[in-house]
Order: sequence, then C-alpha cells, then structure tokens
Amino acid sequence: MTFSLFAAIVVALSVVSIVNGATAGTTTTTWDCCEPACGYTSNLSSGAKGPVKSCSKSNGKPASDAQNACFASSGDLAYSCSSYQPIIVNSTFSYGFAGHGNTATATCCKCYQFTWTSGAAKGKLMIVQAINAGGITDVDFDIYTPGGGVGDFNACTSQYGAPSGGWGRQYGGVTSDSQCSQLPSNLQAGCHWRWKWAGGDVNTWKVSFTQVNCPSQLTSISGCTPAKI
Ligand SMILES: *[C@@H]1O[C@H](CO)[C@@H](O)[C@H](O)[C@H]1NC(C)=O
Ligand SMILES: *[C@@H]1O[C@H](CO)[C@@H](O)[C@H](O)[C@H]1NC(C)=O
Repeated sequence: MTFSLFAAIVVALSVVSIVNGATAGTTTTTWDCCEPACGYTSNLSSGAKGPVKSCSKSNGKPASDAQNACFASSGDLAYSCSSYQPIIVNSTFSYGFAGHGNTATATCCKCYQFTWTSGAAKGKLMIVQAINAGGITDVDFDIYTPGGGVGDFNACTSQYGAPSGGWGRQYGGVTSDSQCSQLPSNLQAGCHWRWKWAGGDVNTWKVSFTQVNCPSQLTSISGCTPAKI
C-alpha cells in the first residue's frame, strides 16, 4: 500500500469515528420544581409526540389551564413531577431525566446515553430523556435530582416550602447526603441517588455521550416520545 493510500484510509476512518463516536460533555444537577420546558408543545423537537407531563402541587394531574409555577403565582399552577427522580437499575446503570441544550426544539424528548469519564461515577452509565432546555449548553446534562439546586427559577418554595434559594446552594444544591433529610420524604430517594449511587456531587464531572432511542422506562413516565433515530 502506498503511503498516500494509507493516509487516505486513516483520514477516512477518523472521519467515520467522529460521525459515529460519542461527544464529550459534562453533568450538572437541578431540581427547580418548575414545569419543564418540554411541557410546552411548541418546544418539542421535530416529530416528538408529547408534551412531557407536568404535575399539580401534590404530584397529580395539573388543571388543564395550569400555568408554569415558575412564572405565575396565582390560579392553577403546573410543577415538575416527583417521578422525574433518577431510577437506579444497578450499581453501574441508572435511568433519569435532564435538561439538555439551549434550544428546546433541538432536544426536547430526545434520549441520550452517557458514561462518566471523570469523578466518582467514572465508568458508570445513564440513559436520560431531555425534558428541559434553555440556559444549558448543548453538551451539558443538567440531571434532575431532588436537592440538585433550583438554579435560575424556583417553584420548590411554592410546591414544598423549600428555603427561598432552594435546598442547599442555588446552583448545585445540597452538599452532602445527610442534607437530603431537609427534603420532603417523597423526594429523598432521588437526593440520596447522587451521593450514594453516583458517589458525590456530580457537578462538572465529564461524560462521553451519544443520542439513543428512548426506552419505554422513560417515555412511560414522561409521556413524550421523540422521533426515532
Ligand atoms: C446493569 O444493567 C445493565 C442493563 O440491563 C446491564 O447491561 C449491566 O450488565 C448491569 N450491570 C451490573 C453490574 O449488573
Ligand atoms: C418553551 O415555550 C415557551 C412557551 O412558548 C417559551 O416561553 C419558552 O421560552 C420555551 N423554552 C425554550 C427553552 O425554548
């Protein structure tokens, strides 16, 4: 084989691996109790059937005219659902929900598989469905975990009587497993997930990710199914 043919094959193979390969990103955490952005039909990605479910204050079905509790304070309000907590499959694999990307119509309801490449969860895997977007980079997964920080908007004071800046830090939330006891009992399992299953804070840990078709374990909870890939 001539050198130039060899070089051409190497270039072709590396282009293929970029196309099929995973993208580098990071994880952060959130639990703001707001109706997720993908709860608006206008925000769904092309071909998605939804929108994602939002909930009443007591995690039931919201009133049909309910407004996002992060932007309205009277009348019927819509919140996030307690069912958006991470779900442990085994010691190295969890399902979950996340905010992903700055443009909702690019990501809403799509599913992604990622493996942590740094932090205490290095080597562990998650499959998450994007239920929120906006103010999040296209390579970050803002994992829904109670006590994960309310971030820019806070409906947790309205829904659960949380402190005005949410539980723990406004960005990043609680700083230890023991602080999960500040949360209402129906949210504690998802708070412990971070410290006990992932093994720490999760914030700014690196991942390698790729889009995948959504498992029914996630779409049956969110009520939203994206176009097949
Ligand atoms: C965890 O579950 C996944 C998916 O079912 C499986 O592929 C993997 O082998 C399991 N890992 C362990 C440690 O049980
Ligand atoms: C989602 O839709 C609502 C209502 O149209 C809009 O106000 C909001 O900006 C959208 N969110 C994102 C992240 O695009």
